[in-house]
Amino acid sequence: MPVRTGVIGVGLMGAEHARLLSHAVSGSEVSAVFDVDTQRAETAAASSDSRVLDDPMVLIKDDAVDAVLIASSDDTHEQFVLACLAAGKPVLCEKPLAPDVDGCLRILQAESDAGRQLVSVGFMRRYDPGYGELKDALRGGALGRALLMHCVHRNSAAPGQSSATLISGSAVHEIDTARWLLDEELLTVTVHRPRASAGSGAMQDPMLLVFASASGVLVDVEVFLNAAYGYDVRCEVVGEAGTVLLDSPAPTSRRVAGQFTRALPADWRSRFAEAYRLELQDWVDGIAAAEPVRGASAWDGYVATEVAGAGIRAFGTGGRQDVVLRDKPALYR
Ligand SMILES: NC(=O)c1ccc[n+]([C@@H]2O[C@H](COP(=O)([O-])OP(=O)(O)OC[C@H]3O[C@@H](n4cnc5c(N)ncnc54)[C@H](O)[C@@H]3O)[C@@H](O)[C@H]2O)c1
Repeated sequence: MPVRTGVIGVGLMGAEHARLLSHAVSGSEVSAVFDVDTQRAETAAASSDSRVLDDPMVLIKDDAVDAVLIASSDDTHEQFVLACLAAGKPVLCEKPLAPDVDGCLRILQAESDAGRQLVSVGFMRRYDPGYGELKDALRGGALGRALLMHCVHRNSAAPGQSSATLISGSAVHEIDTARWLLDEELLTVTVHRPRASAGSGAMQDPMLLVFASASGVLVDVEVFLNAAYGYDVRCEVVGEAGTVLLDSPAPTSRRVAGQFTRALPADWRSRFAEAYRLELQDWVDGIAAAEPVRGASAWDGYVATEVAGAGIRAFGTGGRQDVVLRDKPALYR
């Protein structure tokens, strides 16, 4: 029996997830979709051979929905995740788990009450083959102990973003990957404000965040959303015995007219296309095998929101902020 998924929110991300779940992930199908934009819902349902339902809570409880994928706007995530937990159904929620720490804590409490891990969070970089190689390099020991991590996160446009969402919506990916790669928590954060680019309006762009991990690794993250030239995500880990660099991948390079060039991905969807597919495949496989959450968990989602919140406070005060985490629920110990 395939895992039958209900998808809530079929904008850019949700439509792509629905496409992957119905056409690219094995052992999976989409059985229902909901979006407040009914036109979008109908388009996604037609291309994934599923039904449109007119109430997200009905979708969550539907007998033909085994698991739910949430890709609606950030402020709607908590209510839908809580409803999935009340229904006892696995849920993959796009990041952020909830925009505020209290919302994440309510989800962690509800998951504990349900008695099993049911919530996955869409930090798909954990499934990117390049980040996987970074993780393997750190695990393998050839680099020695990690000392520094330099991260670059650039995009070519930032519609609707603010200084706060630059941290909570964009830098949050580096927050999760740094924790995952180093296998330890980020304990402090400082945010620097370089000269702002002309196109950034009221938003501070670019921004430089510096985190210190529990063992003293410094992680610097440049986020530059109005970088005119394109989408570019990089990460270099500096260890005692060597370094490893994840650069923007390109399938081909050109040598033409005295120039050597490589194309950049158009945006995050093409850069992380394989990561999204692998994330969904692993989610579906885990549900089919009745195993606990394999990717980023509700705890990881909470920590990311907590660290991003400290970053937003550090941006506001100009000083260093500590990250204070709550106790891990028994479910995660
Ligand atoms: N993991 C990633 O790389 C990544 C990348 C981009 C976006 N995201 C996240 O994915 C989510 C969706 O982002 P997007 O870029 O697709 O945005 P989008 O605006 O393209 O799509 C959001 C959709 O949610 C719908 N929606 C809004 N309120 C709703 C509600 N109450 N019920 C049902 N549907 C509702 C909207 O009509 C829209 O179709 C966001 O939480 C965002 O942070 C994650």
